Formats: sequence, C-alpha cells, structure tokens
Amino acid sequence: MKILFAASEIFPYAKSGGLGDVAQALPHALSKHVDIVSVMPLYGFINKTLLQKNDLNFNLKVGSDSYKINIFSSEYKGVTTYFIDSPLFSKSEDFYTHKSGGYTSENPGFGIFSAAIVEIAKLLNVDIVHLNDWHTALATLWIKERAPQIKTIFTIHNLAFQGIFSRDILKELGIDECYFTIEGIEFYNKVSFIKAGIVYSDLITTVSPQYAKEILTERFGCGLHSVLNFHSEKLFGILNGIDYELYDPKRDKALLSNFDSESLDLKNINKLDLLKKLDLEVSDKPTFVMISRLVEQKGFDLLIDSLEDILKNELNLVILADGEGSYRLKLEVIAKKYDNFYLTFGYDEDFSHRIYAGADFLLMPSLFEPCGLNQMIAMRYGTIAVVHGVGGLLDTVYEEQNRCGGGIVFLEQSKESFLSAVQRSMELYKDKQKKEEIVRSNMRCDFSFNKSALLYKKLYNRLLE
Ligand code: GLC
Repeated sequence: MKILFAASEIFPYAKSGGLGDVAQALPHALSKHVDIVSVMPLYGFINKTLLQKNDLNFNLKVGSDSYKINIFSSEYKGVTTYFIDSPLFSKSEDFYTHKSGGYTSENPGFGIFSAAIVEIAKLLNVDIVHLNDWHTALATLWIKERAPQIKTIFTIHNLAFQGIFSRDILKELGIDECYFTIEGIEFYNKVSFIKAGIVYSDLITTVSPQYAKEILTERFGCGLHSVLNFHSEKLFGILNGIDYELYDPKRDKALLSNFDSESLDLKNINKLDLLKKLDLEVSDKPTFVMISRLVEQKGFDLLIDSLEDILKNELNLVILADGEGSYRLKLEVIAKKYDNFYLTFGYDEDFSHRIYAGADFLLMPSLFEPCGLNQMIAMRYGTIAVVHGVGGLLDTVYEEQNRCGGGIVFLEQSKESFLSAVQRSMELYKDKQKKEEIVRSNMRCDFSFNKSALLYKKLYNRLLE
C-alpha cells in the first residue's frame, strides 16, 4: 500500500498552527505500518540549498497556462517530503494570503498545488492520496477525472477555512463549468475548494469524534452542514495525537530541567526559571499560560472580556500569541496595568516548550476547536488544561471523572463559567496532593498518534478492498 500525504504546511519546514504538527506526526506514525511520502509547496522562505533536487520534474497544464514544475525533497524522521516548486509560491513569505493591489485574499496558487499533487501521485504510482484542508481539496475532483484508480481521503482540520473564490477561478484552473452546481463546488455563487474535498473524496475524516458530530450542525457547520449531512456516511472523526519524541519533557533540549512523572520537583525548576526570566514574581502562586494564534477561534473575545477579573487573583499569567489585529492592542493595554501578566507576540517553538514545562495551567477558552493539540502537549508536560468543552477539547479533557485527561472543563462560553473554571483551578492548586495525582496520571497517558494511526490505516484498507 503506497500513500501520498499532501498538506500546505509540514513541520519542521513550515508551520503556522496545528496542521503543520499533524502533517508531520501522522505520516511519521503511519510510516511504521505503510509506505508513505508527503508533499507540500516549496515556499520562498524555505532554504532550497538544504533540500535535494529531484528528477521527478514535469510540465503542468492548468487552464491555459503551462508550468514547469521542479521537485525537491528532504527527509525528516524517516518520512520523505516532496516540495513542489511553482512560481506562485516561490515569492511567498506568508503562505496563505495572496496580495494584489492592497487586497489580501486566499492564495489561488493552492489550485495549482492541487493539480501538481495529482501529477506527482501518478508519477509515484500511489494507491491512496491523503489530502488535508482546502489547499489540497481540488485534487479529489481531478483524481476522479484523470486518475480514477487512485483513492482519496480528505481530512478537515478546520471547517472555517474553505478556499472561496469568484467564479472566474474555474476558467483560470481549467475546471469544467459542469461542476458549478449546488451538489458540486458552487457555494453562494462562488467556488468553494473545500466543497470539492467533501463531495469528490472517497472518505472524509475530521480531527476528533466530537467535531465530526458538531460539523453536522448549523452552529459549527460553517454553512456546510447540509452538504456534510448528505455525505455523512463517509465521514469519520479520528482524534489527533502529538509526536511523543518531539514533545518529551524527559529529553526536550529546550528545557532547563528535564523531568518525568516521577520527578515533578524537577518540573518546578522550569517554573521558577520561567518566572524569573519573564520578570514575574517568583512565589508559590499558580502560573496560568496561553499559547495560541491570535484569532477569534481561540476565544480571545472571552479572554479579553474576563482578563482583568482573572488577573485580580493571586496568580501569574503568561501569554504567547501569534498574530496581529485588534486583540493585540487590547491585550497590550491590559498588560500595562498588571505586573502579574507577561505578554509577548510571535511564534517561538523552543520558548513555547519552556512555557508548557513551567506552567501549572493552560487556558484554552476556544469558541470551537476541531481537535486542539496544546491541551495534549500541556498534559504531557505536567500542566493541567482548562478548556471550553467543545470539539476535540471535550474528547481529551475531563473534570470529575477518574480517567486519562484530568483537567478543568467549562461548558458554556460565558464569562461567568470561564471565571468559575479559573476559580476551580485555583482551588485544585491549593490541594497539592490531588493536583499532583492528576498531573502524574496525565503524564502517563498516551496522547501520541500511535492509536489513531491504526484507525487511519483501517480506513486506507477499506478504500482498497
Ligand atoms: C487546526 C484546528 C485544531 C487542530 C489542528 C490540527 O489548527 O484549529 O483544532 O488541532 O488543525 O488538526
């Protein structure tokens, strides 16, 4: 069985969020069971000189244009990734947006990326193409047309991002007008790439069992719940995992002091170091942290609304947020008023590991959360997750249940229930013995991709039956 796994970002080459992590960890876990290679675009910021030049080059005709596609490759933890070098990506600094005349939109270059995925799948003679999110979704349609022997599986990491373009894109990409229907890729008189993935794939998965149920409802369906209900027989929810070698408090080189469930006193060294470095009061107060992209999905409206009430407690708060916009300004105003609050912006992999290791509690007040990886990373690093009970958060964190994933869960996305969850965390912190028991048991849980990789393999088998 030969699989081609396609995604717009793959760690360590490019990562803006959880997709990048999963696109590394899942193929890595699967590589123990099947023959699998990955493919992604070659962005301008990736250093070509570190990659191998490949002779898998080809000409790609898309609409009335023809592109000479060069392929590069690299190996990371036993999985080969192919990079598609196309003129549309070589200049990109920020991969998802396309700027023209001051106007920023979703990058139509992913249409060409999807066409290139089909070509490379044919050249490599794969049995199954595993596609991820809208950036790769058009490949399902073209595979039905050009390589019907190849099966496709389409994974939705976040239904809110859909790849919506004006009807002109059909001509640009050489897609027949016959697909522009309600049953096809038409969406409110525009073209929706993600709909292609839903309609033309052989199987659909999403990244947690709970989110698989939620996206069938109007509240979480982002306008696509009817289409998803129509195709629900081929929809499965499989929980994400994290790479237990990359996220390992016992071996993590980013940490000042390595630790495991038997040496929690060594975790505390990381906490003291973090507080000192960030100029926070070094005392025995609970340390809450949040590591997140600065977007609405992650619950920043609720957080900002509740923030001053949270900060009035005897606690420290550290936020590492990646992004721009109005949330940033609002957070900065509050940060100036409280000296128990450290706020910084950007994406810093090593620093984020030190925050996970140094924290007592991780906040995830997400509005919706397909899976979420941070809560699993936190638990691995002995930090308790405080989450809004939606999507994958509901599948991984449990309060008042004696099972893997002990944490604090609030079910209503309101200030009152969020603040009450913070209070419950503060109480748990005082009960040192109970907190330690939960932490220890979480650190022994298995949030790796091992189990889920086998579920994916089962679906692959089903496709080839
Ligand atoms: C997206 C989702 C997140 C999920 C990740 C990986 O970033 O928002 O919930 O964990 O994809 O699947």
